[in-house]
Amino acid sequence: MKRILIVGAGGQIGSELTVYLRNIYGDTNVVAADVRECKALSETGPFEVLNALDVPAYAAIVSKYRIDAIFNLVALLSATGEKDPNRAWEINIGALINSLEIARRFGCALFTPSSIGAFGPNSPKDGTPQDTIMRPTTVYGVCKVTGELLSDYYHTRFGVDTRSVRFPGIISNVTLPGGGTTDYAVEIYYEAVKNGRFTCPISHDVFMDMIYMPDALKACVELMEADPSRLIHRNSFNIASMSFSPEIIYAAIKEQMPSFTMDYNVDPVKEAIAESWPNRLDDTCAREEWGWKPAWDLKLMTTDMLRIISEKKEKGLI
Ligand code: SER
Repeated sequence: MKRILIVGAGGQIGSELTVYLRNIYGDTNVVAADVRECKALSETGPFEVLNALDVPAYAAIVSKYRIDAIFNLVALLSATGEKDPNRAWEINIGALINSLEIARRFGCALFTPSSIGAFGPNSPKDGTPQDTIMRPTTVYGVCKVTGELLSDYYHTRFGVDTRSVRFPGIISNVTLPGGGTTDYAVEIYYEAVKNGRFTCPISHDVFMDMIYMPDALKACVELMEADPSRLIHRNSFNIASMSFSPEIIYAAIKEQMPSFTMDYNVDPVKEAIAESWPNRLDDTCAREEWGWKPAWDLKLMTTDMLRIISEKKEKGLI
């Protein structure tokens, strides 16, 4: 990767991936694009307003900056998708197909994240294998499986360098996620710092895979820079870091903040989605094929999240 375009750069992943990639590849070589203006991103490097469904505008940006790698991060998340499945399909698949076609036309590598949401209730729950049954029950998951298949198709049929990972729920402290089932694991830290209590929308014993943003960013770069001759799989690699239930993350926060309290008000839509997803993925293939190894665990992440969010509070930013 030399000249990179991030589409959907204003979201939870993009807002941090842009900064991370600019530090590695140089500010001017990482173009951020989003459907809305993003002041923070336009101040540190090139920025373009782009609706990823507008093919001529998308192609013009790739051509203008002589882009050789695209990160397509455009997506409605799982719970939002269930409110308007048609719109979720239109946006998630529209951005994907346009990215694949543009990558083919301009010879770009392409990363489109998949998710734990690509699995469904009849996938094995514990140690979910890389290659297994995938029959998701959300439109978000249907889009992710479609994305994996189309991305592999573009690789075998047209030689496009498509690669991706199945992200666990991503926990971060710069931009809030929106409309995801795993969002509770971000909100819990903000509520702990702001109010000392949290009402959890997921039952106490429902496990899901999670990952801290620094490890998620590292995965993006390591996979895209991996030696292609070592990649047996491409779209998409299971990656795992930590797996916990609400009661476990609650205990981890309480250990560092003894006055913290939590109660439950289960959201039936999110609960059903969470129940349909794996408890913990098996990421052996990612470890073997491109050296995946996470650095953060729940305890380290909790210390870091509480410190950073407390600093934000002291500065009046939240
Ligand atoms: N974080 C996403 C969601 O909860 C899953 O990839 O929708």
